[in-house]
Amino acid sequence: MPQRQPEILAPDPTGIARAAELLASGALVAIPTETVYGLAADARNGVAVAAIFEAKGRPSFNPLIVHVADLRQAEEFAVFSDTALALAQAFWPGPLTLVLPQRRGTGIAKLATAGLDTLAIRVPAHDVAQALLRRFGGPVAAPSANPSGRISPTSGDHVIAGLGPKVAAILDAGPTPVGLESTILAVEGERVRLLRQGGVSQEALEPLTGPLSIEATPGGIEAPGQLASHYAPKSRLEMDSDLADPAAIRVGFGPGAADLSLSPAGDLREAAARLFAVLHQADAMAEATGKHWIAVAPIPEVGLGRAINDRLRRASA
Ligand code: TXA
Ligand code: MG
Repeated sequence: MPQRQPEILAPDPTGIARAAELLASGALVAIPTETVYGLAADARNGVAVAAIFEAKGRPSFNPLIVHVADLRQAEEFAVFSDTALALAQAFWPGPLTLVLPQRRGTGIAKLATAGLDTLAIRVPAHDVAQALLRRFGGPVAAPSANPSGRISPTSGDHVIAGLGPKVAAILDAGPTPVGLESTILAVEGERVRLLRQGGVSQEALEPLTGPLSIEATPGGIEAPGQLASHYAPKSRLEMDSDLADPAAIRVGFGPGAADLSLSPAGDLREAAARLFAVLHQADAMAEATGKHWIAVAPIPEVGLGRAINDRLRRASA
């Protein structure tokens, strides 16, 4: 495939309109926020969200932060307790991400939340991000716009160096003012847990939350995405299966008989986008039919396939 350099968009109304148009078409756009540049996609478009993981070369599907223009929009997607509301009112727009119960039926792609029933959401304090989110009008999923395992980008040049032609465009608004990712708090009712230190200091938060500390889990500190209990099917799951056993719910990939398919065409992006929904469906079918295990066809260990297999490995553990 020819490697096309990304469009460099100016942070003016024309550039912002173009960025919004690209997002709506399912393309990836690097966008400025006050913390770091984000690798943005329409959070309701599962295939576009899959393209984020592909571009980053992430070996696993971490749940992503969803960005919206204001608190009112955030309330369409997540349920705010009194404590969550107080935090949002005090620190939004700003570098604070809240992990909250997700509302049902809002259309957020399951891959964006890695199948969790919580949602990480924030309102960025950056004029250009704000203008883009308003123009686009929907939720935008965005991890930091760097290849997996590399440091977060705080300028458009960093994004070009790291991701280059993997993004359709870069909305370049110069260096990001905070330069450090957002602080992440999980809010369960009135209970607050600190998942990641970041742009809002612990000292600034504690008057509202009480004492905070990063919680270590047995076996050491894990990435925030792994702290939360990922969706795991109730039924036993077996990977790399030949789908020969009719006693199983058979999940296919590519051609061949199956009860459900991650991608009949054998397309990894489609498979990633469908993964969590298919696992839920397979579980429901297993329960309804009395079949007690789920067989999943082999997924090639390349590109997004590595992340799909990582997720399946956890689900089968
Ligand atoms: O400042 C930032 O937060 C930047 C800008 C672009 O907004 N974004 C960012 O995203 O740092 P990312 O993907 O690099 O980090 C998001 C973190 C991940 O560690 C992920 O595990 C965690 O948020 N996370 C997302 N959803 C979660 C959830 N439902 N429960 C627990 N952790 C979650
Ligand atoms: Mg990151």
